[in-house]
Amino acid sequence: MRLALIERPYSIQPTKERGRLMTRAAREERKSRVIEVLNKARAMELHAIGQYMNQHYGLDDMDFGELAAQMKLIAIDEMRHAEKFAERVKELGGEPVTLAASAVETGQEMEVIFAFDTELEDDGIAAYNEFRTECEDCGDSVSVKLFDDIINDEQAHFNYFDSVDAHIKKLGAAYLAQKAGTSSATGLNTQGFVARRSGGAPV
Ligand SMILES: [Fe+2]
Ligand SMILES: [Fe+2]
Repeated sequence: MRLALIERPYSIQPTKERGRLMTRAAREERKSRVIEVLNKARAMELHAIGQYMNQHYGLDDMDFGELAAQMKLIAIDEMRHAEKFAERVKELGGEPVTLAASAVETGQEMEVIFAFDTELEDDGIAAYNEFRTECEDCGDSVSVKLFDDIINDEQAHFNYFDSVDAHIKKLGAAYLAQKAGTSSATGLNTQGFVARRSGGAPV
């Protein structure tokens, strides 16, 4: 009996070891799938930052201060998103991408800007929901939560852009006359669009 007990671990060791190695390999594969979608999302954020800051300068130059200020705050939200995706990529042992997903469209007219951004946010929400599902499939609840939080912010951006676009289309010059000559000041703090709307502290 004693002999059988001693021998038993030797007889099951190879199977156990194989199982453990396979599990580790599968885990690494799942991590790399999550890193891939996090980096795709980060590249989209890097594009949004460049796009919205470019529009911010343009709106400010056209003297639509209030619209320029809101655009800057939304760009700050996107900076925070890009940073959060990078932090999670690093936590998982990956390298955050540094290139934007698309080139920035410059010199857009007022009639184009808010329709363009509404579509950008809509595309982002659809993509992030797909990326979230990938993270869920990979069993990464931390990355799922990250996408949940950021999708909520993108929805707030979508709602704002969509409402401004609707006002411009329905009211045209009358709406824009209210925005002309307004202040573009956003103050010295780094709160973005969503944090200001909710009255919360910067995250
Ligand atoms: Fe974002
Ligand atoms: Fe956004």
